[in-house]
Order: sequence, then C-alpha cells, then structure tokens
Amino acid sequence: MELKEAILQRRSIRKYQPDPVPQEKVLRLIEAARLAPSWANKQCWRFVIVRDEKRKKMIAAGAPSDNPGKKALLEAPVLVVLLADPKASAVYEGKQYYMLDAGLAMEHFVLAAVEEGLGTCWIAYISGETVREAVGAPEGLEVIAVSPLGCPQRIPSPRPRLQLNEIAFSEEWGRSLEV
Ligand SMILES: Cc1cc2nc3c(=O)[nH]c(=O)nc-3n(C[C@H](O)[C@H](O)[C@H](O)COP(=O)(O)O)c2cc1C
Repeated sequence: MELKEAILQRRSIRKYQPDPVPQEKVLRLIEAARLAPSWANKQCWRFVIVRDEKRKKMIAAGAPSDNPGKKALLEAPVLVVLLADPKASAVYEGKQYYMLDAGLAMEHFVLAAVEEGLGTCWIAYISGETVREAVGAPEGLEVIAVSPLGCPQRIPSPRPRLQLNEIAFSEEWGRSLEV
C-alpha cells in the first residue's frame, strides 16, 4: 500500500470485530514503530501488547465514562500500551521531547496497521496509573496512550480538518502559500 493511501484511509476506529490478530502482524507494526526518528536516536518508546481479558478490563477501567473510546478497549482483541522513558529523551526550552518521540513511533504503528487492514485509536484520556498497574510497568516510565487493535467493524467518515491556508504560510506568518 502506498503511504498516501494509508494516510487517507486511517481513521480512529472505535468499533471492532472479535477476530484475533496474529502475533506476526503485531510484530510487523512494532517493527514499523521501531524505525521512527527520535531525539538523539534514544528511542524512548516502549510497547506492551495485551490480549488477556482481565488486564484489558483493568485498562478499560482507567478510561473515564465520557471517553468515546472506552468501549473499544473492551471490544478489541488486542490493546497496545504506549510508554516512554522521559530520561531517554530531552527537555529543550521547556519542551518535553519524549512525548513527541513516542508519538512518532505510535504514528508509524498506526499507519502500518492500516496497511495490515487493522484499526487503531489513540486513547490518551485514561489514567496512566491504572494502565501502569495493569501491565506492571516500572515507575520511571510514563504511560502515553493505549490503542485498541483489531479488525474494524465500522469505518467512520473522515473527520473535518483545518484548511491548508489555516495551518501553513509562505515565508512569514500570515502570508498565503502560492498555489
Ligand atoms: C494524542 C491523542 C489522544 C487521543 N485520545 C483519545 C481518547 O482518549 N479517546 C478517543 O476516543 N479518541 C482519542 N483520540 C482520537 C481523536 O479523537 C481523533 O484522532 C480525532 O477526532 C480525529 O479523528 P480521526 O483520527 O478519525 O481522523 C486521540 C487522538 C490523539 C492524537
């Protein structure tokens, strides 16, 4: 699949079929994540793949009831927990780059999942402490997000995006890009 096609097809999937996801597919997604860029190539990201129903329930319990992705955490056959080690990145001008490093790895994962016909959904509105306990992650690691992973039951229409001229300028702030 062309990268552009994967970018166009990707959606946040919140309805899943129960079909299992073969481990070799999951490993291909982790491999895509492994190749992401990071601050000084420190690769602060870590992943925990969860299939156990009891652990999935513990993780889902950490999502507030008004989180639209909460049910997907119980429905999907696999959960992917994204963690990062802040010490394996940098803080520069007050900006915490471990969040960016981890996000890049996760986006590689997410786009590779599209190619495998699998759905994902970033779930960050969730208690990091609850997720940490569910997977037994050590204190020094931050829980960044969780994603369900599985075959989509329903693919939603694209959500709206800002227009190009609202997000990008030519040479200086506010000057439109030439067509
Ligand atoms: C950092 C981040 C955190 C998110 N957290 C949640 C979440 O907790 N629950 C949820 O249902 N969706 C969550 N989302 C998904 C967004 O709502 C979704 O990406 C956005 O509405 C655009 O829709 P699309 O991904 O289908 O294009 C999150 C996305 C990102 C990037």
